Amino acid sequence: MILLSLLLVSLSLAAQVATVGGGRFQKGDDPAWSEYGFDDSSWLEVSFDQAWETLGLERVNGIGWYRIHVVIPSSLKKGVVEAIMLDMGAIDDSDQTWINGHPVGKTGTFPEDPGGYSSEYGKRRYYIVDPRWVRWDQDNVIAVRVYNFGDPGGFYRGAFNLVKPSLKDFAKLSLVADQGGYKAVLASSVKTSGTLDISITDVMTGTPEVSRKQKVTVGAWKEKQLLYPLAPQKRLKLTYTDPRFDEILEAEVCAPYILTPPAPAEPRYNGPLVFGVRPGSPVIFRLAFSGDKPMKYAVEGLPEGVVLDPEKGVLSGSCSQAGDYPLVFTATNDKGSAKACFTLKVGEQIGLTPPMGWNSWNCWALSVSQEKVMASAAAMINRGLADYGYSYINIDDAWEAEERTPDGRIEANEKFPDMKALGDWLHSNGLKFGIYSSPGDFTCGGYPGSLDHERQDAEVWNSWGVDYLKYDWCGYNKIFEAGRDKSEAAFIRPYLKMQQFLREQPRDIFYSLCQYGWGRVWEWGAFIDANSWRTSHDINDSWESLYDNGFERQLGLHPYAGPGHWNDPDMLIVGKVGWSSSLRDSRLTPDEQYTHISLWSLLAANMLIGCDLSQIDDFTFNLLCNNEVNAVNQDTLGHQAHQDVVEDGMQIWSRDLYDGSYAVGIFNLNEVSVPVRLDGALAKIGLKAEKARDLWRQKDIETDSEYLIPPHGVLYVRVQSR
Ligand code: GAL
Repeated sequence: MILLSLLLVSLSLAAQVATVGGGRFQKGDDPAWSEYGFDDSSWLEVSFDQAWETLGLERVNGIGWYRIHVVIPSSLKKGVVEAIMLDMGAIDDSDQTWINGHPVGKTGTFPEDPGGYSSEYGKRRYYIVDPRWVRWDQDNVIAVRVYNFGDPGGFYRGAFNLVKPSLKDFAKLSLVADQGGYKAVLASSVKTSGTLDISITDVMTGTPEVSRKQKVTVGAWKEKQLLYPLAPQKRLKLTYTDPRFDEILEAEVCAPYILTPPAPAEPRYNGPLVFGVRPGSPVIFRLAFSGDKPMKYAVEGLPEGVVLDPEKGVLSGSCSQAGDYPLVFTATNDKGSAKACFTLKVGEQIGLTPPMGWNSWNCWALSVSQEKVMASAAAMINRGLADYGYSYINIDDAWEAEERTPDGRIEANEKFPDMKALGDWLHSNGLKFGIYSSPGDFTCGGYPGSLDHERQDAEVWNSWGVDYLKYDWCGYNKIFEAGRDKSEAAFIRPYLKMQQFLREQPRDIFYSLCQYGWGRVWEWGAFIDANSWRTSHDINDSWESLYDNGFERQLGLHPYAGPGHWNDPDMLIVGKVGWSSSLRDSRLTPDEQYTHISLWSLLAANMLIGCDLSQIDDFTFNLLCNNEVNAVNQDTLGHQAHQDVVEDGMQIWSRDLYDGSYAVGIFNLNEVSVPVRLDGALAKIGLKAEKARDLWRQKDIETDSEYLIPPHGVLYVRVQSR
């Protein structure tokens, strides 16, 4: 036993690292097991490359403890700071760790914690240990209490290390929005004294405006908070140096800055160049022209049965004859006039470009009401978002009455007094109406789903004038799990069923599947006539979520997107969101929001705005209403971008466009700004060009120059390659 324990600890003094390969293990739970003096000699010797399931034990779900005996050499103490760090690798699922009876860290939560258990089985544990708790050159006990849910459990990545931490291990510099400016937080688990370099530059010109230094000292296990006001269009950069270390800490933020140039007062067309409608289905289309109002509209080439409201610029009616109808739109105001060539495609395919619009979930969630929906619908028109092609107004969960009528009919609840009137109002303004349901008996929010009422529900929606259905797996899961058939067909069946009833309605209903990318939906979505499908779990307004849904979960999905069928990385997380009746500004930084919209534009993703449009601010409006950025999203080829390069925390994604040009996003996923020479970056993806069009600034830029891409930000260009 003793021999084994000794073998499991090996030391490499050169690297100042001690490796620990195993310890002692016991099922059960007792607070005394964290103490140094507890006698664990009867515990089972285990090595860390074996998860619980391979220990020859019964299945261990629940709590188990490790006690790891290790001699910590005082050589680790030498150097600039006295501290050691446990780099413990991953633990399945959550842990609480002590050294000689003193707590050092916790990752994940336990069932007894408020909010219950949450797993962090994939996360690497780094715990800084206060040197006062270490028994130098003697036996120490690291006690690890682990909660495991479902096999395997516990340590499973092999050895862990005791290391001498560097500046980045024990100190963290972050910037958080506070009181209209930014609060810098320097937190450290050892005492540090150094200098903070503060610089403020203008985002548009790159001109440095402030550059000063500040002395800072932070005690062990303390933090220092410093507040910096920041005017719009300014970038704040902090650099912390402790002279004892070569490394530095950096943090950077930016106040909201608007890149999109103002739209001209003359009319300008900003909408898609095609629209698909089935023969005989109602045409609902609003001409998307920006410019001073009032405006007069005219359309040449309209097929019989389709009419224009020349005051509102709204097309309605229907066309029974399949075919491509080339139209010319004209809009005129007192400043001038503009034309746009357009094709109305009357045929089987709808959703020829990704849907653009609004959905109630990311703002109001279950607190949605008809009044709130109307407020966003009215703002879509009055604030001018409809002039950029946004046209869907989609109600998510919580519109349903709790009970169906005795004959099984679904009704709206008291928050939605008149769905038909809502649909009529939207259509009369050229906007489209979306609704939500689930193939299960209940929706995610606990409202009645469509199970066994599919036909009835499709008919009710038709009577209200519904043009879009988001169909959310949710409550169907327990039915699927309870069934014996787990085949792909069983997964597809409930979606196929609703599709049939939607197609029987005398109107076009965009069919949006929501089942979080399960069952590789992209491989079969188009075959069951779905127009889009979610590719991942729910998005939220954090960088991690944006990164996962937008970058990670879209890898390799580009072949599956095209006119009529789109990958959906979920709704937009800009503006005032909150998933409740109280809203707040998106927690994404302005640079992250530019990345978000650039990426969704490249991905040909559904552009469903998730904020309250009646409260939209100028920054968010300009982010959503850049006609050149949106034109890539709405490009008629419908080719979704692919990831071409991943290098040094940078990623390049590109797509080809109908006019032979390319849209290219150069994303900086690092925490600090990175200069990029544009021609070099383009060469990496085989493109050669002298000029590139900066899509956010809407101006041509030289490619033989270097551009500074902010942290989590993007340089988004369109190029014509030689
Ligand atoms: C989730 C879905 C969300 C939202 C919610 C409503 O399953 O992914 O987007 O629709 O249900 O309860």
